[in-house]
Amino acid sequence: MLQVELLKLVQFRNYTQQNWIFNNRIQAVCGKNGTGKTNLLDALYYLGLTKSYTPKNDAQNIQHGQQGMRIEGQFNIHNQSYKIEVIIRENGKKELIVNEEPIKKITNYIGLLPFVMVTPDDTAIITQSSELRRKYIDALISQTSSTYLQNLIQYNKFLVQRNSLLKQAWPNSPNKDLLDILDAQLSQHGNEIYAIRKNYIPQLIEKILYYYHFLAQSNDRLNIQYESSLHQKNMLQILQSNIQRDLAAQRTTEGIHRDDLLMRMGDEPCKVMASQGQRKSLLFAMKMAEWDLIKQHKNYPPILLLDDVFEKLDIDRLHQLLSWVAFDCGAQVFITDTDSERVDNLFNKIGATYQMSLV
Ligand SMILES: Nc1ncnc2c1ncn2[C@@H]1O[C@H](COP(=O)(O)OP(=O)(O)OP(=O)(O)O)[C@@H](O)[C@H]1O
Ligand SMILES: [Mg+2]
Repeated sequence: MLQVELLKLVQFRNYTQQNWIFNNRIQAVCGKNGTGKTNLLDALYYLGLTKSYTPKNDAQNIQHGQQGMRIEGQFNIHNQSYKIEVIIRENGKKELIVNEEPIKKITNYIGLLPFVMVTPDDTAIITQSSELRRKYIDALISQTSSTYLQNLIQYNKFLVQRNSLLKQAWPNSPNKDLLDILDAQLSQHGNEIYAIRKNYIPQLIEKILYYYHFLAQSNDRLNIQYESSLHQKNMLQILQSNIQRDLAAQRTTEGIHRDDLLMRMGDEPCKVMASQGQRKSLLFAMKMAEWDLIKQHKNYPPILLLDDVFEKLDIDRLHQLLSWVAFDCGAQVFITDTDSERVDNLFNKIGATYQMSLV
C-alpha cells in the first residue's frame, strides 16, 4: 500500500505556505473555483514524477513574485516511511531529496511513487493529436520501467539531433558519418522502446475495454489498436528507406515517435463519433487501466488523483466509479469538487468513510 500522509507547500502557485495531514484512504478536496484544488493534486503528482501534470514549466509553478519553491511529502509504502522533497532554489536549480539524500539520477527515482491523474482537459487524449496518446503511454510505462524511461530520453535526444542535422544540411546531403551514428543510436533505443510497448499495450487495451464496459455498463463496440510502423520494419530499416523523404521534410518522418492508439466506436474513430459521455467513460477507462497496469507491475497501487470528476460523469457512471473507489480499488484516492455537500451526499449514500480538506 502506498499512501501520502503529509504535504507541505511553500510558494507553490497560489499556496504561500500550507500543510495538510492526510489520514484516510479516500480524500476529498473541496473549494470554490480558483482556490487551488487542482494545484494541490498537481503538487502531489509533482512529487512522484518530478514535474507537474499540467503542462507548466517550472517557473510557472513558483508563486508569482517569489523566487524558489518547495514541495515536501511524507509517504508510507508498506509501513516504511519516505520523506520526499522537491526544491527549486532561488537560482532556479531544482533538487530532489529522498530521506535527506539528494538524488542525482531521476530516472531511477521515477516509479517509487506512482500517480495517475485525471483532469477535465484530458478528453483531449481521445480527440486531439497522437502526441497526447503517446504521452499517456509513456507516463504509464515510465512509472514501471526505468529502462523504458532511459531509452525514451535518449531516443528523444538523438531525434532532436537528427532533425537539426537534416535541417542544417538542407538543401545538401548531411554528413554521412554523423547521420550513420545518429541512425544507429535511434535504432537501438527505438527498437527497445518498441519491444516494451509491444509487450505492454495489448495488456493495456484489454484493461481499457474491461473498465469501459464496467463504467458504461453498455455494449458499445469499442475497438482499440496499437499502431506503429515498427510492426512492419525495424527502426534502422525505417530510417534508411525514408532518407529521401526525411531530407525533403527536414525531419524524421517515421519512427516510434509517431506511434498511436487507434480508438474506434463501431467503425468510426472515437474522436469524431463517440458522444461526450462515451468519451468521458473512455477517458476514465484509460486511466483506470493505466492505474491497474502500474499496480500489476509494482506491488502497490498508484495514488489516484481525480480532478473534477463530479462534473464529468452522469450519475450512474459516477456511482460505478465511486463504488469502485470506495470498495474495490484499495488505493489512496484524491477527489476534488466545488460542492462539498454533493461529495458528502454521494459518499454517505454508498457508505464510504473519507476525509475532507477545504481549500
Ligand atoms: N505561479 C502562480 N502564482 C500564484 N498563483 C498561481 C500561480 N499559478 C496559478 N495560480 C493561481 O492558482 C489558482 C488556480 O488554482 P487551481 O487551478 O488549483 O484552482 P481550482 O480550485 O482547481 O479551480 P477550479 O475549480 O476552477 O478548477 C488561480 O487563482 C491561479 O491564479
Ligand atoms: Mg481545478
